[in-house]
Amino acid sequence: MTEPRKLFIKTYGCQMNVYDSERMAEAMGGEGYVLTDQAEGADMVLLNTCHIREKASEKLYSDLGRLRPLKAANPNLKIGVAGCVAQAEGDEILRRMPLVDLVVGPQAYHRLPEMAWAGRQQVDTEFPVEDKFDLLPARKAPRGPTAFLTVQEGCDKFCAFCVVPYTRGAEVSRPGARILDEAAKLVERGVREITLLGQNVNAYHGAGEGGDWTLARLIRALAAIPGLERLRYTTSHPNDMEDDLIAAHGDLPALMPYLHLPVQSGSDRILKAMNRKHTAEQYLRLVERIRAARPDILLSSDFIVGFPGETDRDFEDTMELIRAVGFGSAFSFKYSARPGTPAAEKPPVEEALADDRLQTLQALITAQQRAAQEAMVGREVGVLYEKPGRLAGQMVGKSDHLHAVHVEDPQGRVGELVRVRVSASASNSLAAVRIP
Ligand code: SAH
Ligand code: SF4
Ligand code: F3S
Repeated sequence: MTEPRKLFIKTYGCQMNVYDSERMAEAMGGEGYVLTDQAEGADMVLLNTCHIREKASEKLYSDLGRLRPLKAANPNLKIGVAGCVAQAEGDEILRRMPLVDLVVGPQAYHRLPEMAWAGRQQVDTEFPVEDKFDLLPARKAPRGPTAFLTVQEGCDKFCAFCVVPYTRGAEVSRPGARILDEAAKLVERGVREITLLGQNVNAYHGAGEGGDWTLARLIRALAAIPGLERLRYTTSHPNDMEDDLIAAHGDLPALMPYLHLPVQSGSDRILKAMNRKHTAEQYLRLVERIRAARPDILLSSDFIVGFPGETDRDFEDTMELIRAVGFGSAFSFKYSARPGTPAAEKPPVEEALADDRLQTLQALITAQQRAAQEAMVGREVGVLYEKPGRLAGQMVGKSDHLHAVHVEDPQGRVGELVRVRVSASASNSLAAVRIP
């Protein structure tokens, strides 16, 4: 028997890249490649990249630099660049980095196996008409209890700062039946929780039985799959939070009480300049409606500070919105000018000022996160065990509200969904006792 070839994949960026990396590993599995956890000794290295901020895309070039000695020692090593930097700068990558063998954009992954066997310096950054998901091989091997499943890709929103509409293309939703089929196969492999993914997941409109399905309709169909206990979805745009989806949070026990709903800013002036198409007040009213449907829901968000033209007043409006909502967690970023986006044409905010604002905002978010965790102490929640803890007899999993939880449970098994009582809150996790 010949030795299997070794494939090393490094994933940068969002959860959609995590899902794509998994599917690419499966596609290459069909070609006799097995995954390895280090680039040294691999036959193929794939870098699945992110273009969202300047720092993210720069990482690609420094990582490629580090692969140079490996390529020198083994000229047969294949080096591929996938993901959003591949889409945005495919030709530049090949010019700057001759060691790269293939460049494959996010919509062309089904072509990866044939590209891997073809000659050097292959590029495919087309947006083909066929559905790449259908052309990727089925998922087979047993796996852990949680999985991502991409249901929607691309974005038509064109926020003034963002590269996603250019790197992922126009909004496309997968047909409902295909998603149900993929979900059922994941459940057969041991999955009990699925997070539905899309750059604008709540804008999902896929072909389904009886006509066009909304995300809420899709979630209801998925919740009926026996053994699929938990559903989540990310990332949502406030303007696509329709009534049927809000209602689902109130009456579908499988839909978990956690929602990532990026707002970016609390200033109407900045929201307008960002092309977000809603006001701070509209966001606050939306939060009220969501909380009316599911009072214990935890909200998270994304914030950008230092967007061009952001004044102290605008920043204070953002702080005010955060105080008014009370988030369970949030990601916050300093604005990064991205080539080709409208905002990149405008004069930037002074760097030191943006740094200060980021620190101030993060301190408030951290305080709110702690408070949300403290508020869980004494409460009963569900936890899905994902792995054994570092201490003997301990299990680790996520709560319904997506908190990491450590549970003392010597009999606990990975994949078990248990009821626990939260006993304490640490900086980034909760401790809990299993309820017999
Ligand atoms: N589709 C999602 C987010 C996709 S990108 C949405 O509509 O919210 C993830 C996050 O990265 C964004 O929410 C935003 O906060 C941040 N981001 C995007 N472009 C950025 C830029 N140019 N500079 C800084 N942060 C950015
Ligand atoms: Fe980017 Fe805006 Fe689309 Fe989100 S909604 S992916 S921030 S353009
Ligand atoms: Fe990054 Fe592309 Fe995701 S730019 S955030 S990997 S969609």
